[in-house]
Amino acid sequence: MAGTNTPESAIRNLFSAVEIAARVEALAIEIAQTIPGDFVVVGLLKGAAIFVADLVRALDRAGARPQLEFIRLSSYGAAKESSGHVQILGTVPTGLAGRRVLLVDDIVDTGHSIACAAGMLRQCGISGLWVCALLDKPARRQIEVEIDFVGFSIGDVFVAGYGTDYAEQYRHLPYIGIVE
Ligand code: IMP
Ligand code: MG
Repeated sequence: MAGTNTPESAIRNLFSAVEIAARVEALAIEIAQTIPGDFVVVGLLKGAAIFVADLVRALDRAGARPQLEFIRLSSYGAAKESSGHVQILGTVPTGLAGRRVLLVDDIVDTGHSIACAAGMLRQCGISGLWVCALLDKPARRQIEVEIDFVGFSIGDVFVAGYGTDYAEQYRHLPYIGIVE
């Protein structure tokens, strides 16, 4: 069928669904052992939606009982490069004052998104903050951010799949691949 979509053959496999599932399970155990007591998972939409969905169920298996909230951030548009200008779109979750929060994103790249979300959460008066990212691209960092739990550290490549997109394509893929 004719269309403007990049064909999936342009995605080179990086982490299989099986590898991702194993890493998510291990991350959940690490998180459950590190964060004391009750906490709230705050996922960043849209990229982290699929990771968060798997992570909270893995946390349940690891004995944690997290609550779940989401924040929607803007930044990339259709480009592969971050604009560096991050905005919170829509409503901010209420009731976070005094709570321990695990902020979850799909990828930390320049660091601007995590820094923006962490700043907003601190303004809400949370009592503790931990950050979890499925993928970390340390070579791309523009501002320093502390990440407590990292799934996989990768180089300066653009990836898609398992929630992450290239111009809104590929979020549905069960694996993560490099966009050629
Ligand atoms: P940062 O603000 O530059 O750290 O960018 C973080 C956001 O950009 C992440 O939440 C991702 O949604 C998106 N992003 C960064 N790198 C990639 C990539 O390689 N593929 C898809 N999305 C990406
Ligand atoms: Mg994102």
